[in-house]
Amino acid sequence: MKIELMKRIKVKEALASHETGTDILVKGWVRTKRGNKNISFIALNDGSTINNIQIVTDTQTFDENLIKDITTGACIAVSGKLVESQGQGQKVEIIASDIELYGKCDAETYPLQKKGHSMEFLRENAHLRFRTNTFGAVFRIRHSMAYAIHKYFNDKGFYYLHTPIITASDCEGAGEMFRVTAFDLKNVPVIPETGKVDFKSDFYGKETHLTVSGQLEGELGALALGEIYTFGPTFRAENSNTPRHLSEFWMIEPEMAFYNITDNMDLAEDFVKYLIRYAIENCSEDLEFLNSMIDKGLIERLNFVLNNSFIRATYTEAVEILIAAGRKWEYPVAWGRDLQAEHERYLVEEHFKQPVILTNYPKDIKAFYMKQNDDRKTVKAMDVLFPGIGEIIGGSQREENIDRLLARIKEMKLPEKDLWWYIDTRRFGSAPHSGFGLGFERLMLFVTGMSNIRDVIPFPRTPKNAEF
Ligand code: 4AD
Ligand code: MG
Repeated sequence: MKIELMKRIKVKEALASHETGTDILVKGWVRTKRGNKNISFIALNDGSTINNIQIVTDTQTFDENLIKDITTGACIAVSGKLVESQGQGQKVEIIASDIELYGKCDAETYPLQKKGHSMEFLRENAHLRFRTNTFGAVFRIRHSMAYAIHKYFNDKGFYYLHTPIITASDCEGAGEMFRVTAFDLKNVPVIPETGKVDFKSDFYGKETHLTVSGQLEGELGALALGEIYTFGPTFRAENSNTPRHLSEFWMIEPEMAFYNITDNMDLAEDFVKYLIRYAIENCSEDLEFLNSMIDKGLIERLNFVLNNSFIRATYTEAVEILIAAGRKWEYPVAWGRDLQAEHERYLVEEHFKQPVILTNYPKDIKAFYMKQNDDRKTVKAMDVLFPGIGEIIGGSQREENIDRLLARIKEMKLPEKDLWWYIDTRRFGSAPHSGFGLGFERLMLFVTGMSNIRDVIPFPRTPKNAEF
């Protein structure tokens, strides 16, 4: 039948169809074409599945130039009869009766012509890498994980709260913020007496930045709505050029009234396992592809994490283990120092050989909002550490006692007057509460087996790189 008279179906649907003998219409991009002067086999992909549909074309019945223009990367529409495949590798194929060329693709200049490009090369061609099997799989899984996150929380009665992207507070207090301003940088107003920038005359009348976390605003929501979560982009101007850091990443931050640190850990473990199970059950073809091409241990590792309880240990126990390991660390280990990736990975990959949740960190290496333990030295913090990744989740029980919170704000020399709204919640009906943040791309690294965080977000933002 003529293409104009038909309704397109997706390749995924066509491949699953049992209605052989019927006419169908598919549209997509040519992955490969092979054959001889009488017959061509075109592998067509439209992004709906990792699998291609094979188009069998009797070349004699089509315009010679049309057939010549059907090259790797070209976009076409094909109608024809769906038949049982004669060849191996697919159940059904299409015997083409009508072909329309939407977009040619010059074989000489198309970057994805040859097989086996390096990840670096594909990163430089991030505008086209969606068309490879690997990135098709990664971004279909990314979508599924985002959907599963909303489903998980919705089914549990959590509300999705939209916290601001532009903010005047530094939640983590690490000073790694990108400034937001409407000033003309060639003509920045200054206060004559002090020579300092006059932020009062800027757009918001104060210094503003891109958020590093939606947590502080999330807490305000939780202390009325009960259980909320955020899921949005967060920004950190830390100059970390590692396979695990982005300057723009997506974070999921649930915040729950009446949860203590144990409830918080239980939720974190249940949540991550739910997402892994969702991927195994709903993304099997893409996972199998990644398991065979990218990381042979992927599916086994996903199942392993699913079927074992996370180890729970304190920071102090972790430090003892690291000292007892008797290794020469790049960063020295001592009680009171923050754990580095090398330490976290030793604990997870070599010592426990399982995901680990560490708690009760020294208060001096953690943020101001964490609930202080009675020892006055440690706080009810928790970090979830994963094999191959290190920290995937950071969270804590929050300090709900106003006196202790104010004391900590003073001790850390934070701008108390700018946090008046946060402090107010401890003044008016304060409640025990907890929350955590899951780095979406760190989760994606684990679920896909990809080794560089730049390859699990469509357009990575890292130091000296904001292309596309
Ligand atoms: O541990 P972090 O800094 O915690 C917070 O921001 C808290 N406010 C969360 C909360 O309690 N609501 O960040 C949380 C997670 C980390 O465990 C990590 O997975 C991810 O965010 N993350 C990054 N991911 C990619 N690139 C970066 N530069 C990241 N920094 C943190
Ligand atoms: Mg952290």
